[in-house]
Amino acid sequence: MSQYWSDIVHQLTPYVPGEQPKVQDLIKLNTNENPYGPSPKVLEVLKAEANDHLRLYPDPNSDRLKSVIADYHQLNANQVFVGNGSDEVLAHIFQALLKQSRPLLFPDITYSFYPVYCGLYGIEYERIALDRRFEINIHDYDRPNGGIIFPNPNAPTGIPLELDRIETLLQKNRYAVVVVDEAYVDFGTESAVRLINQYPNLLVTQTLSKARSLAGLRLGFALGHPDLIEALTRVKDSFNSYPIDRLAEAGAIAAIEDVDYFDATCQQVIATRDALVRSLEAMAFTVLPSGGNFIFAKHATMDGMTLADKLREQHIIVRHFTKPERITPFVRITIGTDAQTAQLVSVLSNILAE
Ligand SMILES: Cc1ncc(COP(=O)(O)O)c(C=O)c1O
Repeated sequence: MSQYWSDIVHQLTPYVPGEQPKVQDLIKLNTNENPYGPSPKVLEVLKAEANDHLRLYPDPNSDRLKSVIADYHQLNANQVFVGNGSDEVLAHIFQALLKQSRPLLFPDITYSFYPVYCGLYGIEYERIALDRRFEINIHDYDRPNGGIIFPNPNAPTGIPLELDRIETLLQKNRYAVVVVDEAYVDFGTESAVRLINQYPNLLVTQTLSKARSLAGLRLGFALGHPDLIEALTRVKDSFNSYPIDRLAEAGAIAAIEDVDYFDATCQQVIATRDALVRSLEAMAFTVLPSGGNFIFAKHATMDGMTLADKLREQHIIVRHFTKPERITPFVRITIGTDAQTAQLVSVLSNILAE
């Protein structure tokens, strides 16, 4: 608190990211990072690009990267916007497209950055309750709105929404932008990208932080109609001309081009996830169906906070949410390597036997 703060700063409730521990010997299953490193081709490119050219500004429009992303998704480069992580892309989306006279709608249990952006930009919003099975019921969104946003699969539940339901939502809300945040889509959820040419009100965001193991590089993007992309570019060019540095652009291109590595690591994460679900169910956990690189699970008798605390004592960190109350029995567990998962299962069985 300071007399020098502007009014808006006094009113902000900032997002609290999951812990990034300073000690090394932890099994870190709390922020949905990929347990496998980035493609070796990315590392080669980053080393090669660390050269004298760093004295020059990067391309302000990241044209090479946009055209690689466009080719990958079979779109045109003017349907692509890139930013410093999808969090930055989302921030621009909230400011450029979701600040309307009617409220923005999003699930009551979802990515907790959404209400934070609303606070920052003064956007009115309504939280729509997930149903009893923690699923998005699209009929609950049949109400006046200035836009809709949700992750697919949803976070932290991990539950995917089928594409035909997303299409119905797009048809019913032609006057508003529908944003599908596909941060985790590559781990077994169907993407809405193929609807983009049919629906000018659809914007899809993706990130290189999860399936491409580049959370430390900070690269996210949005795909949609050129008019939506232009709105984001106008905000970006009023904020930071060079959000993508030279290393990030080169590394991102190499990551997207190495399709084999991407496919192999995604398949491995999915296989480990499925095996972990079976082990947890055998230990009296209920696990929500996941289309992401994490699972949301609750135990029959031990509450979520106790579980997270006991795991932490054994050097394993998972994420526990204290709000809303409906999800306090759960813990969110990021899928690690097979060895990390085996350790998790063994520690859990000891904790539950105590
Ligand atoms: C649903 C969702 N969207 C977006 C992001 C932001 O990802 P990044 O800024 O690393 O691209 C996250 C990060 O965890 C997320 O969970």
